[in-house]
Amino acid sequence: MDAISVIRTKRDRGELTPEQIDWVIDAYTRGEVAHEQMSSLAMAIFLNGMNRTEIARWTAAMIASGERMDFSSLPRPTADKHSTGGVGDKITLPLAPLVAACGAAVPQLSGRGLGHTGGTLDKLEAIPGWRATLSNDEMLNVLRDVGSVICAAGDGLAPADKKLYALRDVTGTVESIPLIASSIMSKKIAEGTGSLVLDVKVGSGAFMKDLDNARELASTMVELGTDHGVRTVALLTDMATPLGLTAGNALEVRESVEVLAGGGPQDVVELTLALAREMLDAAGLKDADPAKALADGSAMDHWRRMIAAQGGDPDAALPVAREQHVVTAASSGTLTTLDAYAVGLAAWRLGAGRARREDPVQAGAGVELHAKPGDTVTAGQPLLTLHTDTPEKFAYALEALDGGVLVGPEDAAFATNPVVLERIA
Ligand code: URA
Repeated sequence: MDAISVIRTKRDRGELTPEQIDWVIDAYTRGEVAHEQMSSLAMAIFLNGMNRTEIARWTAAMIASGERMDFSSLPRPTADKHSTGGVGDKITLPLAPLVAACGAAVPQLSGRGLGHTGGTLDKLEAIPGWRATLSNDEMLNVLRDVGSVICAAGDGLAPADKKLYALRDVTGTVESIPLIASSIMSKKIAEGTGSLVLDVKVGSGAFMKDLDNARELASTMVELGTDHGVRTVALLTDMATPLGLTAGNALEVRESVEVLAGGGPQDVVELTLALAREMLDAAGLKDADPAKALADGSAMDHWRRMIAAQGGDPDAALPVAREQHVVTAASSGTLTTLDAYAVGLAAWRLGAGRARREDPVQAGAGVELHAKPGDTVTAGQPLLTLHTDTPEKFAYALEALDGGVLVGPEDAAFATNPVVLERIA
């Protein structure tokens, strides 16, 4: 077998055989297939797709590229959630300790930023001292002691995805149903969670821009999970505007702590509770009350213990970017558009995301929103604050926002979608 014949099969719209898939994933993991060959194959898959049989085999090969974890020794049922990626999507931060406070064990393996979307690990690394990398034993100990852990997948877990994820981030091959479904599900199945809730984002700031594609992605992942014995449910949720009022690493940690303290933006609270209820149901904890755990401080208590168990100081001041630039409303009226992709791209350009695999991210960079669609604004009122350590990027970020933030007359029509659009089980 050789990489060029595998690339040619997909380039010419053929179906990859099980042998080709097993070989290419294994050879890429071992370094025998070069990054440029895998990026060419990823682009061929991006352009020509894979059918469900190919996706199932590709996912199985990614699982087989590494070890499988086993949480069966834990006294609590396990429940995990994974988002397909959005702008301002900080939900994992309040959700994991909240669900742990309600009695489930949450082994939350998370990722770094992908394209214009933020990554949970990049966000949490804004907390001084916090460590994303834990050994399997450390992960199990935090899970046992606290009930939730948020960390990077260990080197041994789906290593093929680790390499491919970083490659896709910088080769324009992210927005592909087969590649997203196999990436997410290989990690979650190898991780060994008993149940899984998928948050499939839909809209300009998501990788799936429309409902039909999001449904296809969700049902592909639900089928993969179910076939591997994981109770899997998907919620399709809105990503036409950013979630909450912040996009960027430390900015989103601050907002998540507000939610854990019983406040925070209404859409973030609503989605956190909706996902918590699904996770608790799937874990067989139907009587738990996540709203109570947010209100009575028990979720906050779990958060503080989880951060401290991973070396972080939950009381430390969060990093703040060196420079700010305020964008004001040019006229009075109604804010009709606040486009999630435009805000995500602006945050990425300000330094919240990376352009090359090895780039660091800026903890303080990002975008703070002062109004959401439907709000009445007056001329000169701040609409957004841009944060960065590299002020020469302001013009580049402002270009990303061009046409993405619109104020219409006071009676202008504006569209807001419900937070949860559909459920697929
Ligand atoms: N999250 C992942 O883990 N992989 C993807 O491809 C997209 C979102």
